Amino acid sequence: MAPHGDRSDAAEEATAAQLEKRPISTVVIIIAMQTEALPLVDRFQLIEDRDSLFPKGVPWVRYHGIYKDLNINLIWPGKDPTLGVDSVGTISASLVAYASISALQPDLIINAGTAGGFKVFDLYGVGLRQAFPTPNLLKELNLKAGKLSTGDSLDMSPQDEASIVANDATVKDMEGAAVAYVADMLKVPAIFVKAVTDIVDGEKPTAEEFLQNLAAVTAALGESVTQVIDFISGKCLSEL
Ligand code: ADE
Repeated sequence: MAPHGDRSDAAEEATAAQLEKRPISTVVIIIAMQTEALPLVDRFQLIEDRDSLFPKGVPWVRYHGIYKDLNINLIWPGKDPTLGVDSVGTISASLVAYASISALQPDLIINAGTAGGFKVFDLYGVGLRQAFPTPNLLKELNLKAGKLSTGDSLDMSPQDEASIVANDATVKDMEGAAVAYVADMLKVPAIFVKAVTDIVDGEKPTAEEFLQNLAAVTAALGESVTQVIDFISGKCLSEL
C-alpha cells in the first residue's frame, strides 16, 4: 500500500490539475502603495469593504468588485498606524497575503507594484521560487520576464548587491518574495507585475529617481495590470 503522504500528494496534484482547467474566477491583487492602488480601484470600479474580512484594528484595506467575469479583490496593506506611511515591505505583504488567501481562497494572486531595475538585464537566471508560468500572457502583452529580488530597503547595501548580482536578479522590490513565499506555502498560483521607477546601478540616487518617476510609472503599471486582467478574464490557469 502506498504511504499516506503519497496518496495525499497525488490527490493534491489531481485537484491542482482540475483547477487549472477551470476558468479563473477569484483574483487577489496585492499592492503596497496607495498611489499604485487607487488608479486600479477606479479602473475596475472597486468599492472598499464595509465589513472587513480582516482582524479588527489592522490597517489593511480590501477593495472589491466584479470586472468582466472576474471577482477582483485589491488588497492594500494600508497606512502604518504609528508612522502614517504606506505599509511597504515584506512583513505587511506576507501578512496580507496570508489573510487574503485564507479568507478569499483565490484562484490567482497578482502582486503588482513598482521596482528598481538594473542596467544589465539577464533573462536566463533561475529563480529560487518560481512564479506561475504565463508564456501566453507574456507573449500577447509583450512583457519582459525577469528574476525579482526582494528586500526591506529601497536602497541597496553592498551585501544585497553581491547576492543580487550572484543570483542574476534583474528587478528589485520590497514585497514580491514575501507574497511568493505565502502563495507557495498555501498552494495558490502567483504572478508578479512590476514597473521600473529607478535604475539601481545607475547614476541618480535611488530615492530621488523613484519619486521623480513614481507618477508616470504608476500610470504605466495601471495600464499593464489592466491588460493582464483583461487577458486573464475567461481563461483557465493553463491558458496563461
Ligand atoms: N520600488 C521601486 N524602486 C525600488 C528599489 N530600488 N528597491 C526596492 N523597491 C523599489
